[in-house]
Amino acid sequence: MLEVRAALVREWIEEATAYIHDQLDGEIEIQSKSNRKDLVTSVDKEVELLFRQKIAENFPDDRYIGEERMGDTPSNLAGGVWIVDPIDGTANFVLQQNHFAIMVAYYEDGLGKLGVVYDVMNDDYFEATAGQGIKRNGQVFQPPFKDKILKDSLIAVNGGMVMTDAYKVQELVKESMGLRIYGSAGIEIIALLKGEIAAYVSPRLQPWDIAAGQVLANEVGIQVSQFTGEPVDLLNQNRVLVAYPSAYRRMIENLKGPR
Ligand code: IPD
Ligand code: CA
Ligand code: CA
Repeated sequence: MLEVRAALVREWIEEATAYIHDQLDGEIEIQSKSNRKDLVTSVDKEVELLFRQKIAENFPDDRYIGEERMGDTPSNLAGGVWIVDPIDGTANFVLQQNHFAIMVAYYEDGLGKLGVVYDVMNDDYFEATAGQGIKRNGQVFQPPFKDKILKDSLIAVNGGMVMTDAYKVQELVKESMGLRIYGSAGIEIIALLKGEIAAYVSPRLQPWDIAAGQVLANEVGIQVSQFTGEPVDLLNQNRVLVAYPSAYRRMIENLKGPR
């Protein structure tokens, strides 16, 4: 059954990608949401509508959580729940036309079953099915490293956190080999899977920013938790650390501490 869902997601993402490429050649309508940097475009909305409709047609009993709020806003995770970010990295989409992702996750009773992160412009497709590992562009994929330590690695941290030194994060950056900021949680998860960075830290991830990445991370022993060490809550905003085990152990010391 999971394979059926995974195959359908591949089809839907192919359709969404064709639409996105088409729109990039024309006029895209851009609006601000909570502040001038929080953008949404007509493309985010159309892509979310596509997923919403496909899921409702194929799996009418499943529920749906999506960034652009075309979902059911469930108050629990019982049964089959899809969690979709139609374009992750909308600012990159608008300002760079690159470095953004489509992210689709499917959970059953709160357990991650399918997670897909697709780097649209670089045509790089990461798919995890629970217990069956990861495929990258259809081929079995393992990160090149089982573990990474902070001292020898680059790390990705949310820019605002670095600027305010929240949770003594500057100490972690100094201890590492350096800081990278990609502007899309999905692209940062891909960088982690490829072993390019040891950790990704964000104080403000919504369920759709982390649901798919968490399924991918779980399949290869990359750790995901809130700063408190508790599991991510997929019904609320979270402070999240995603990291290889050794980097995780070092970084959670600071992140568990006072803001
Ligand atoms: C955002 C990106 C960004 C992260 C923000 C997210 P959006 O998603 O993933 O990297 O720092 O917290 O909201 O709004 O572009 O889908
Ligand atoms: Ca988004
Ligand atoms: Ca997002």
